[in-house]
Amino acid sequence: MDPIAQLDEFEQAALHEIAAAADPTALEAVRVKYLGARQGRLKELQSLLGKVGKDEKPVVGKRFNEVKTRVTAALDDRKRALDRPAVAAGGLDVTLPGTPCSLGRRHPLMQTIHEFKDIMGRFGFTAADGPEIEDEFHNFEALNIPLDHPARDPLDNFYLAAAGVATGSGPKLLRSQTSTVQIRVMEKVRPPVRIISVGRVYRPDTIDATHSCMFHQMEGLMVGESVTMAELKTVLRLFARAYLGHDVHIRFRPSFFPFTEPSVEVDMSWNEPNKPWLEIGGAGMVDPHVLSSVGYDPDRVSGFAFGLGVERFCMRRYGIRDIRLFTSNDVRFLRQF
Ligand code: DAH
Repeated sequence: MDPIAQLDEFEQAALHEIAAAADPTALEAVRVKYLGARQGRLKELQSLLGKVGKDEKPVVGKRFNEVKTRVTAALDDRKRALDRPAVAAGGLDVTLPGTPCSLGRRHPLMQTIHEFKDIMGRFGFTAADGPEIEDEFHNFEALNIPLDHPARDPLDNFYLAAAGVATGSGPKLLRSQTSTVQIRVMEKVRPPVRIISVGRVYRPDTIDATHSCMFHQMEGLMVGESVTMAELKTVLRLFARAYLGHDVHIRFRPSFFPFTEPSVEVDMSWNEPNKPWLEIGGAGMVDPHVLSSVGYDPDRVSGFAFGLGVERFCMRRYGIRDIRLFTSNDVRFLRQF
């Protein structure tokens, strides 16, 4: 028989028996039969090779190697399958690497809030919470914001009654500031007080790259004996440095808030040439009127308070140019954090 035909026949027979081997022992017998080093059929064929004519040699040699490689590979494959019967049966192969699945992660703002709480916790401030649906007393009156104050304008607030929501005792609104939590805490605990409260606030602002109708504030309140503005400045400066790094500068500008006296507006250095400062919130010494309205004695205790915009800190740290990205639900943005 011509050597090429013999090699073809060998290949077919070997592949057939390999596929038919039902267990590792049977497969080993097939291996010995075809590829065995001493009496395997391939060995026989190899001796044939020596006898073919000079012209045929390259062709037959090439085919010989091909067949050997293919049969060896088929043996290895079959061996692997038989060693792991579950896989051969189409079951689960626990030795394969897993299918990667993308893990979720915290929203960048939530990461920021956690970090804020962590930093302020190190300064001895505990986290307090308050409702997002507020009454006018806590959002305005208790904070010394009288009925005729422009901040109470229905056009500047999200009143729920206007939307037809039953509100029970008096009008309710989505809180426009976290300062409400100052009151809620002081109603419950006696001085000394050292709390922060981080959460959402709502204002019908025109939405653009730096304004949103919903954003987050961190409120801070410290009341005790002889608390002064020096502590306020120190806490804010240390906080800003802890979150943004030591090169950030904090600036205080005289201002007015009904619930603090004196009041300041707080700016941080901003990294744009034409915009060296960005306002990050308000602060001041708690107005004695506010202290006495919750039953504290303004002659014995004093305090400072502040309210900062959370988004702006996060935007500065990561170079985020548009506040709308936080609510865009775009994974290309979110995956970066
Ligand atoms: N609540 C103010 C606002 O949203 C910010 C603020 C100013 C908070 C002074 C304070 C403060 O605690 O003392 O504009």
